[in-house]
Amino acid sequence: MKIRQLAAIVAGLAAGAALADPSAGDATRGAAVFKAQCAACHLQKPTDTSAPIGPQLNGVVGRKAGSWDHFKYTDAMRKSGITWNAKLLDEYLENPYSLVPGAAMGLLVPFEKNRADVIAYLTSNPDELKQKERAP
Ligand code: HEC
Repeated sequence: MKIRQLAAIVAGLAAGAALADPSAGDATRGAAVFKAQCAACHLQKPTDTSAPIGPQLNGVVGRKAGSWDHFKYTDAMRKSGITWNAKLLDEYLENPYSLVPGAAMGLLVPFEKNRADVIAYLTSNPDELKQKERAP
């Protein structure tokens, strides 16, 4: 009995650890999360004539925060000194304002699984995220 309880606890810890690893997401599911939660601000549909509200996210992993030339970021984002990786994206999506106080992104992603999946999607550099260049 004790051993079985212990095994259950260990299994629970392992599941928690897998979710807490922001690089362990599912990119296919992440594409759906992106469409539901991010696309309204970060995607320019071919038929759109107006610019999206947020910067281009194709290539964001490994990029310096606030550095896509064709978007007018807040000073807070431009001067944050961050280079995006899975761990920092996870922190940012959980609460943009605690990682970058003064950031202008009105969205929190409270579910770890959604964050991990959308980060996996961003890491795959999907072509569909490419936005046209435009003057800031
Ligand atoms: C309500 C609009 C809005 C939504 C929804 C939104 N964003 Fe943003 N996002 C922004 C804006 C605006 C910025 C620029 C912030 C700044 O300059 O302070 C931004 C910035 C970012 C950045 C930093 C980019 C860079 O070049 O440094 C990342 C990464 C990002 N968003 C990811 C996401 C993801 C992933 C989602 C969905 C889970 C999402 N955003 C949802 C508006 C939004």
